[in-house]
Order: sequence, then C-alpha cells, then structure tokens
Amino acid sequence: MYQLILRGARLGDEVLDVGIEDGRVGSIAARIDERTEREIEAGGRLVSPPFIESHVHLDTTLTAGEPRWNESGTLFEGIQIWSERKKSLTREDVVARATQLLRWQAAQGVLHVRTHADVTDPEFTGLMALLEVKEKVRDWVDVQIVAFPQEGMMSFPKGVELMEEALTLGADVVGGIPHYEHTREMGVLSVKESFRLAEKHDRPIDIHCDETDDPHSRFLEVMAAEAIRSGMGPRVTASHTTAFGSYDNAYAFKLMGFLVKSGINFVANPLINITLQGRYDTYPKRRGITRVKELWQNGLNVSLGYDDIMDPWYPMGTGGMLQPAHMAVHACHMTSRKEVTACFDMVTENAARTLGLKDYGIAEGNPASFVLVDAPDRWDAIRRLAPATLVVKDGEVIAETRPPETRLMGETVDFQREGTEEAG
Ligand code: FE2
Repeated sequence: MYQLILRGARLGDEVLDVGIEDGRVGSIAARIDERTEREIEAGGRLVSPPFIESHVHLDTTLTAGEPRWNESGTLFEGIQIWSERKKSLTREDVVARATQLLRWQAAQGVLHVRTHADVTDPEFTGLMALLEVKEKVRDWVDVQIVAFPQEGMMSFPKGVELMEEALTLGADVVGGIPHYEHTREMGVLSVKESFRLAEKHDRPIDIHCDETDDPHSRFLEVMAAEAIRSGMGPRVTASHTTAFGSYDNAYAFKLMGFLVKSGINFVANPLINITLQGRYDTYPKRRGITRVKELWQNGLNVSLGYDDIMDPWYPMGTGGMLQPAHMAVHACHMTSRKEVTACFDMVTENAARTLGLKDYGIAEGNPASFVLVDAPDRWDAIRRLAPATLVVKDGEVIAETRPPETRLMGETVDFQREGTEEAG
C-alpha cells in the first residue's frame, strides 16, 4: 500500500509513475498498480527534484526600503543602508523575516537553502537567529548556514576569532570575503585562514570571492591553489567571482586550467551580479557576471543563487529559483536547447553537489521529495517561469498551486502551453 502515487510524470525522457511509501520513493515504473492512499495525475508534466537555493542572505532579506531605498543601486550604498538598518536588528526581527522568505521558497519547491550569516558582529544577532530558524523549519526545508565575515576576517577586529566562535556555535560552512579586506595581502591571508578553519573543524568552504569588476582582484587563484594543496576541492565553493568576467583572456585561460585541476564548485548570482556590477562603467557596460558558460563547458560544477531578495542590494525577487535561471540564460548567453536545460540543472542537481547533499534526486530508495512543474520539460519551465504546482517533502504534500487560467474573447485558452515542444 503506497501513501501516494504520482501518475504520468515526465522524468528524463520518459513519462512514468512514482510510488511513495514511508516517505521514500518505493518504485518508478511505466505503470504502478499497487493500492494507494492518494493518487495525483501529473498529465505528462515535469517532475523535478526540489529546487535548491545555493546562495542567499536570510539575515538581510525582506528589508528593502528600511530605513530608505537604495537610490544609486550600488553595492556601496547598499552597505551604507544596511549599516543603518543593522542598528535596529534583533533576533526576533531576523527570525520573522527569514522564516517568511523560507515559506515563500518552500511554496515554490525550494527545499534546500544555503544562507550566509554575517558574523562580524560580536553579538552574533543574525547567526543566533538563523540557527533558531534552521531548527524551526527543519521538517520542511533543510538550511545550511555559512559563517560570513561581511566586514572582513583580517580587517574587522578579532575577525578570525569571531569566525571560529561562529563555527563552534553551529555554523555549517566557512565563509570569507578576500576582495573586501583592506589589502591584497590581507585578502590572501584570509583565504588561507578560511582553509585552515575548514580543515580544523572539518567543514566545507563557501567564499564570496572577487565580487567586483576590478580585473586585478585575483583571489580565485588563491582558492584554487589552496584547494589543490588541501585536496578539498569538491567541498569548496567560490561564490560570485564576477571579476572573472573582466580578466583578460590570457590570464583567464591559464586560470581555467588551474580551476579544472582544483575541482571546486562555483555559484553565480545572475540577478544581483548584473544589477550591482557594471555600475562604474559608462558605455559599453560590463555584464559583471562570472564565466558561467565557459566554466560549465570545462566540466566545472556551477550552480545559481539569488543572493539578495528585497533588501538594500536588490529590491526585487520572489524566491522562485527559475528567476535566476532565466536571467542566466540571457546574461550568460546560454540560449541553445542544451544550455537552457543546463541552467535548470544549475538550480537543482548542480546545486545539490555544491551543497554536498546526499540522497538527492528522484530514485528508488531516496527521500520522496520533489516538485511537479507546470511545464513539459526543463526548457519550457524556464521560458515561462512555470509555477511549481505540487511540492512534496518526504512523501508529504507541503504546497499546491493552481496554474493561472485565461479567458480570451469569451473562450478559455491555454496559450501558455501552445507551441511548446519537449526538449527533455
Ligand atoms: Fe552574497
């Protein structure tokens, strides 16, 4: 007796039934005839493993306009506004906003989230709040917390001690921000410190690296060298690396070889990168995004995150992961059929690798956690920013959304689905 059977869902190139028992995938077959408590007809729509948010700041989210809006749109005005907003930061405030955003994300099928928590705060207000949130939401979303030294690990008083304390308090991942340290040398030291802490505490690494248009910001090479030295590559993530989009090609090609050797992961945040970078250019304006397409072509693991959702750095955002994927298609020139599909994988499977998730994916024996997307395939899901109509976590339906219905000149029309063809 199954608890749920999902009938006729597109999984890879096939349309299959998925049977769920005890919160896990019991079987996947062309037709399952077992008895079941509940049956859901998928109608050939795409079933995907859960969406994954691989880079967000839950301590700053949902504060846009407080105490004022970012008029220049720059990273630096954002930092200034945040320092004003930070004065009224309380644990309750962070808990309420972070929980609200996670609810938005879960409703859209995002069931794994890696958030950064600013730990350049001796009170650890954001970190303590996010540790509380992580426990509170455990049943419906899995949260990883990065100890993130927003104001620098070497430049902020007792920065390294604060990082170490944050790890002891329960932060899951070691962060860093080398390009924001006062000098190049301090930046190099900070990367080495991140690796030292990660090796000592046996934690993964996720560093905000080279988030600038400055082509001389070259901490990515330091990360690659440290990853090769330590052998930690698959547990290491370089977030942003926007300067890589501004490096001259002679250097970029040499660096790519080292990156391949290092085996590290990358997170690009296309919505925020294209918004915050290029602000000091007149024309032509740079896109300010890392070499997503070339990293992917070289076999490196790239995932996509939001970074900011309605905060001093980015006033927009819904938390739905198809938005950054849609922007990546445009900003990274990922428009071929294969490339669009790859952008979908960057907010699902690739992100699972970045986060080091085990048992991820729709396979017999794995937890029955998945999303039914109102599209025939990954390509069309991105094209239409298709809604997640059903979200299942460990066999339980946690969210259902009805797709919009349109009346045109007196007739109900399904224009959203007209002209779609399956890309697989
Ligand atoms: Fe970030």
